[in-house]
Amino acid sequence: MRVAVPKEIKNNENRVALTPAGAKEFVKKGHSVFVQQAAGEGSGFSDETYQSAGAEILPSIESIYETGEMILKVKEPVGQEYQLIKEDQLLFTYFHFASNEPLTQAMVRSKAICMAYETVERPDKSLPLLVPMSEVAGRMAVQKGANYLEKPLGGRGILLGGVPGTLPAKVLILGGGIVGTQAAWMAAGLGADVIIMDVSLPRMRYLSDVMPKNVKTMMSNEYNIRNLIPSTDLIIGSVLIPGAKAPHLITRDMLQYMLPGTVLVDVAVDQGGCIETCQPTTHENPTYTIDGVLHYCVANMPGAVPYTSTLALTNATLPYALELADNGWENSCIRFPELKSGLNIIKGDVVYQAVAETFDLPYVPVSYYINHH
Ligand SMILES: NC(=O)c1ccc[n+]([C@@H]2O[C@H](COP(=O)([O-])OP(=O)(O)OC[C@H]3O[C@@H](n4cnc5c(N)ncnc54)[C@H](O)[C@@H]3O)[C@@H](O)[C@H]2O)c1
Repeated sequence: MRVAVPKEIKNNENRVALTPAGAKEFVKKGHSVFVQQAAGEGSGFSDETYQSAGAEILPSIESIYETGEMILKVKEPVGQEYQLIKEDQLLFTYFHFASNEPLTQAMVRSKAICMAYETVERPDKSLPLLVPMSEVAGRMAVQKGANYLEKPLGGRGILLGGVPGTLPAKVLILGGGIVGTQAAWMAAGLGADVIIMDVSLPRMRYLSDVMPKNVKTMMSNEYNIRNLIPSTDLIIGSVLIPGAKAPHLITRDMLQYMLPGTVLVDVAVDQGGCIETCQPTTHENPTYTIDGVLHYCVANMPGAVPYTSTLALTNATLPYALELADNGWENSCIRFPELKSGLNIIKGDVVYQAVAETFDLPYVPVSYYINHH
């Protein structure tokens, strides 16, 4: 199969959908790989490294879409790419259709096959192509929190781990899923006193088994949160209720009980945030202060570490991309049901119910195209 990788053109997107190591895997299996000039630059991969892995560099985005049978991307196509996409072309990337009607309409018109990273779902409901970005954001949340706790940046001036003879900082993590767990590892590693709150007892049992001694678990409820905030230095929001807006666990009135210079990192900002005063911010302008409490609410945290994020993402996507190239999307979806749930639009038909309902478009069940024999 001819696999083609465009350079991402969305503002500030430095990730790339395929590494030179990944390119080599495709070539070893007899596929042809085409990479747009400078596509890997933002992540630290030069054109030469792709060439020595056996890929061909193409000069323009037009030539990439013209050549590829499968287009591997990171972010959803943007306006100028819409008319380049061809009938029957397979697109494997993040789409997030439900929040983007023009994109949905354009992909319906294109008659391409759109397989979305974010809806690839295993039978146990896990989302293998979202997990890596949550891991990055969770680890980064502590790095950012520790940094902003420094006085010159607006924080309380406390070192996360303290030093002998001083108490370490107190970190409260709301939500012990992927983000919360990775944040807890990092904060604990730096020597902080960490509490993870969740509403799932099985999850907290698991966490209390695997976490080091400076991490405690506690049931998430308003009473417990109010008790803890006057003595907490760093709060990390990492709650997720699938398919719904995040609940506001930290409300506006709670800010007055916090220590001046407390830092709030709301990773759940992309789902509305679990801190009422959270407003999405950018890497250029990441923080603001309300009532002496510093807020960091960057909606695409992994974008700041494209080298790590590219490797983490492609570690997860590559096995599926290879499968698609080897066997074609129809057979791959029979062999791997999680790929079937990744299908959102096929040849002009919306095959993902939530997307069809959101935009009042006709829904065609994916089984119309994929049948188990
Ligand atoms: N800002 C970014 O750059 C970025 C990057 C990756 C992920 N995210 C977001 O981070 C959030 C967390 O993602 P995740 O992968 O860890 O999700 P996850 O599903 O693994 O974990 C969510 C956890 O929240 C818990 N929870 C639900 N209700 C709760 C409550 N009332 N109190 C406490 N805990 C509660 C759940 O039991 C679960 O353990 C999501 O909104 C995700 O979209 C943001």
